Amino acid sequence: MKVLVVGSGGREHAICYCVAKSEKADKIYCAPGNAGISALAECVPIGAMEFDKLVAFAKEQQIDLVIVGMDDPLVGGLVDELEAAGIRTFGPRKNAAILEGSKAFSKDLMKKYNIPTAAYENFTDPDKALAYLETAKFPIVLKADGLALGKGVLICQNLEEAKEGVKTIMLDKKFGTAGNEMVIEEFMTGREVSVLSFVDGNTIKTMTSAQDHKRAGDGDTGLNTGGMGTFSPSPFYTKEVEAFCEKYIYQATVDAMKAEGRPFKGVIFFGLMLTEDGPKVLEYNARFGDPEAQVVLPRMKNDIIEVMEACIDGTLDQVDLQFEDNAAVCVVLASEGYPVSYEKGIPISGLEEFDRHEGYYCFHAGTKFDGDQLVTNGGRVLGVTAKGKDLKEARANAYAATEWVQFANKYMRHDIGKAIDEA
Ligand code: AMP
Ligand code: GLY
Repeated sequence: MKVLVVGSGGREHAICYCVAKSEKADKIYCAPGNAGISALAECVPIGAMEFDKLVAFAKEQQIDLVIVGMDDPLVGGLVDELEAAGIRTFGPRKNAAILEGSKAFSKDLMKKYNIPTAAYENFTDPDKALAYLETAKFPIVLKADGLALGKGVLICQNLEEAKEGVKTIMLDKKFGTAGNEMVIEEFMTGREVSVLSFVDGNTIKTMTSAQDHKRAGDGDTGLNTGGMGTFSPSPFYTKEVEAFCEKYIYQATVDAMKAEGRPFKGVIFFGLMLTEDGPKVLEYNARFGDPEAQVVLPRMKNDIIEVMEACIDGTLDQVDLQFEDNAAVCVVLASEGYPVSYEKGIPISGLEEFDRHEGYYCFHAGTKFDGDQLVTNGGRVLGVTAKGKDLKEARANAYAATEWVQFANKYMRHDIGKAIDEA
């Protein structure tokens, strides 16, 4: 089979790693890919939002399966365009990717189908939002409706901050048109867990759990980022939590989308908060998480192409999804200054060590070749993943492997997976 993966981050590198392991894949392309991905796939210089070029390329090369990894092209309808051209594609259509593309939509869906989530109101009029805040309880959470690189969420401690937040989102349009509509919701406390799942429109099979670390600094300080590291599984995702989510959240979401005439095929990512009143949905994503994929996919035993084809064909009920009985930790190596401003083009060395060690992976996020030299090319540069028999061993292994890698402005958190000590 010829497979085309769309995207250019660590998540797509992890997807390409699984595709490369599959006996079904003869040739892998990645658009646009990155320096690390080019070791597994032929990178083609087409951007993930260049739909016409992607469709033309897939037709020309007679691609048998396209895997769309990123949120923007999914929400923009790339899957629909590829399917219209007769190309088999893994990922939700535009009318289903709205589950991630509009927070107002997803909140209304949860309310309508009684799926546990924070209490909320949606607003298209900033004056009404401001009036609502006058009588609200604080802290409170403001969310831009649309995609905002995971940055469109503001947690406001008091009325002042919240008023400023409404201005930022709806008037100053800091997140662009994502702020045309806004959700204001109740602030919840608890541990967060990410659960990714494969969905074929009817059947849902969840993958092993994970936890992200979204803040830039140790001890969950500093700005929100795309994610600074992950561990899998989460010891807080107990059998009881899982049973609750199976009863009230997972299948309920798939059934709700179907009932709305928006059958979901692809990956649903459940961002959960384990509150005192039970698990609640923080958000949905319509794709693998990044860097969740970097700890979940290396532990998956199945052939990824078989699972994805079952999602497309509606035969996921026949798949026995299995994960290794071990653990993995991913520590993101970023450029000092991320997520605000940072230097790029800095030489990277030491990656050959990963070829010498079983169970260690270096997934590239922002890298490129400058001639023969590998250099940094983004805020998040590399995701260093290691497995271990348990979380503690995986964490020690991952941090040991971060020492192999050198670049002048290397920055990382030192407490990825620290939470497991409290489990
Ligand atoms: P989201 O993009 O919706 O997952 O939000 C990003 C982050 O903001 C989450 O991972 C949480 O840490 C935090 N967050 C979002 N919604 C809430 C909420 N209702 N209460 C508390 N924290 C929240
Ligand atoms: N790591 C969070 C996300 O992919 O949205």
